[in-house]
Amino acid sequence: MSDRPAILLVCLGNICRSPLAEGAFRAEATRAGVDAEIGSAGTAAWHVGKSPDPRSIAAARAGGVDISKQRARQVTPGDFNRFTHIFAMDDKNLADLEATAPPGATAEVRLLLDLVEFRAGASVIDPYYGDEEMFAYTWNTVSEAARQFFAETAG
Ligand code: 4NP
Repeated sequence: MSDRPAILLVCLGNICRSPLAEGAFRAEATRAGVDAEIGSAGTAAWHVGKSPDPRSIAAARAGGVDISKQRARQVTPGDFNRFTHIFAMDDKNLADLEATAPPGATAEVRLLLDLVEFRAGASVIDPYYGDEEMFAYTWNTVSEAARQFFAETAG
């Protein structure tokens, strides 16, 4: 089981984007029949212990996925060895992760949208100050990345 993927999705607050990404990766892992560990975390500690933003819960629910039981947590140094893949939602998250990675970290750390054709190097825009439509767009974006990940893993 040493090649079981362990995927951590990371944003700033762990209440908007990365909970959606965690839900999308769980749904796609199930669909692909892949046994994977999947989690999410924030680079900041502001929202630790909180449920996802209600707008994220609603957007995932519209896509058939319940993310309401998730609780926010902050990235820890141990995550860099526990997970095989750490995906950052944006450039700032990536820079913060690279700055906090402990020596000897084994996880591959990259931008989530590097998984998506024509969107490599792009960021998942924070919908926090946006409207419902932005949350639906974010759900679609992270779902596409999740599909690509498991298409490559299964293929
Ligand atoms: P997230 O969005 O990083 O996608 O969870 C945010 C949530 C909260 C804040 C910023 C971004 N905030 O400033 O509290």
